[in-house]
Amino acid sequence: MEKKPKFYITTPLYYPSGKWHLGHSYTTVCCDAIARYKRLTGYDVFYLTGTDEHGQKIEERATAAGKTPKQFVDELVDNIKKLWALLDIKYDKFIRTTDDYHVKSVQKIFTQLYEQGDIYKATYKGKYCTPCESFWTPSQLVDGKCPDCGRDVIDAEEESYFFRLSKYKEPLKKLLTQTDFLEPKSRVNEMVNNFLNDLNDLAVSRTSVKWGIPVPFDPKHSIYVWVDALTNYINALGYNNGEENMDYWPADVHMVGKEIVRFHTIIWPAILMALGLEVPKKVYGHGWMLFGGDKMSKSKGNVADPFILAERYGIDALRYYLLREIPFGSDGTYTDEAFLTRINADLVHDLGNLVKRTVSMANQYFGGTVKRPKDIGGEYADMANELFAKVDKAMNKYSCSEALEAIFAFVSASNKFIDANAPWTLNKNGETEKLSAVIYELLEGIRLIAGYLLPFIPSGSERIFKDLGLKAPESLNGIKFGDTKAFKVGEGEVLYKRLDIKKELEELNKVEQEDKEEKKEEKEEKPAEVKKEISIDEFFNTQLKVAEVIACEKVEKADKLLKLTLKVGEETRTVVSGIAKSYTPEEMVGKQVVLVANLKPAKLRGIVSEGMVLCAVDGDKVVLVSPERVVAPGSEVC
Ligand code: ME8
Ligand code: MG
Repeated sequence: MEKKPKFYITTPLYYPSGKWHLGHSYTTVCCDAIARYKRLTGYDVFYLTGTDEHGQKIEERATAAGKTPKQFVDELVDNIKKLWALLDIKYDKFIRTTDDYHVKSVQKIFTQLYEQGDIYKATYKGKYCTPCESFWTPSQLVDGKCPDCGRDVIDAEEESYFFRLSKYKEPLKKLLTQTDFLEPKSRVNEMVNNFLNDLNDLAVSRTSVKWGIPVPFDPKHSIYVWVDALTNYINALGYNNGEENMDYWPADVHMVGKEIVRFHTIIWPAILMALGLEVPKKVYGHGWMLFGGDKMSKSKGNVADPFILAERYGIDALRYYLLREIPFGSDGTYTDEAFLTRINADLVHDLGNLVKRTVSMANQYFGGTVKRPKDIGGEYADMANELFAKVDKAMNKYSCSEALEAIFAFVSASNKFIDANAPWTLNKNGETEKLSAVIYELLEGIRLIAGYLLPFIPSGSERIFKDLGLKAPESLNGIKFGDTKAFKVGEGEVLYKRLDIKKELEELNKVEQEDKEEKKEEKEEKPAEVKKEISIDEFFNTQLKVAEVIACEKVEKADKLLKLTLKVGEETRTVVSGIAKSYTPEEMVGKQVVLVANLKPAKLRGIVSEGMVLCAVDGDKVVLVSPERVVAPGSEVC
């Protein structure tokens, strides 16, 4: 038997940090449709997905939930696997970055790069966005904030290992500008102008992050979460661990959202070049699903729940919507109304009716058995035979929306074919031969439609084949209109029920409202539950002292911050404090405050802050905590 060509496709490894939402389903369903399409057209496919489980953000979320990071991610991973099962995702492997083989390989890769001089040790200074786990250069910030999520960044400085990314600038430039490595092409300029032109070496270790893979030869450092995560794409194939599936490498396509294109088209190929491995054939940066104009995101809470939608409206509805509604590469907006309307128009009205009408006529006029007429041909047959080329062209560009557009154009044409031929009139006039040919051609058309829909809505396709009395094909190659000798159709069940959009919108609103209230209750209950008790020794680890403010000024360009000069016993300290909305610099001088004296110094707006002053929170104001009468500065508070 001839060996099948290999095809390797990946989703990003999602962060298990909150609720799974439609955005994750979007990429995963697109990859699933592509993987299914490739399997059905003769490829030996490896479809990889998984979860990216290390890093500070997850550590923080876990703590807030009163769980260990591992407990926290385990629950979310169980949940995402349930979601993928619900959405009929047929992946070949699910990798977790906490998997032992992955951890070992990441450490080996890090050591190799260090030993060959691609990684070295130095001091890192930069702006860091904690939620995104990204370092930014000042020129990349937008209004001083993280360009990805718009949140505040902090000054971070630490001893760090660096990857010699700058060494790969020229080969990366070639890869991005002279090949089809990154698509859509519209994203190439952004990568070159914003990132490649001033490419610095990359800090690839952190001492502040505990929930990460330790640098094997210097374990107080943990490996930068993106180096950890990106290498999954080879580790999943057995890199450094038997290589059992390395013949799928290089990947045919890494499908990713546009916000992480830079990691995949700059850092990742450079790591691969350093390892002497081939770079992936393509990175596809798709657009975002917007929700009320905003990127759907776990941290913002504006998420449509795929569990609710799939359970309520069925997998076909959700898969179809995700694959069809957003033109591939661009952004699209999710609304409940657009979702319901799309289902009613395409699945219920066009596809459902076509199948129902045709199968009913086959039953009504011919008792369910329809044979191939002597000659077949004509416009409708031509259109049917041209469909595969259109679908194939779209799928070779990984554009599911375009493929579905072509298939549904043919669905519409088929409905028109019914009306144009008016089988009921043919029946009335006794033109049985012509009637039989028309019904046969329609059944053939539906057979092709159902075949080409297999990658997108597999369960709906299977039901259509059942209606046609046929088995779904194993391959979509070489399907020809007119190949079926005879049909013996089924009853013609209703494929999709018409939705009462107004009623459904009300229902969805109600579900959302209930969900919100549940969350509010959870929040209200949480504090008592989360507040961990500490021992007296733990409390005494905090050194509290009375300090006197001897000078105070505003911090430039920071409307919340005051810079305090404090007398603490014999010592003078500088503390930056977020109290400018409640106190003027003038009224601060002379006050006694309580200082957390053994806090690790932190840089704020370029000023090293050596401690923190205690305040009571009063609405949006703060009130300083002071000793009840004046005491000697430096006195202990306990
Ligand atoms: O970035 N619209 O994980 P993540 C479209 N762990 N796609 C969306 C989306 C939306 N609104 N929201 C999420 C990470 N996605 C890293 C990846 S890879 C080695 C590490 C999809 O949980 C989209 O594919 O933030 C996006 O790139 C991905 O989820 C981000 O998932
Ligand atoms: Mg993200």
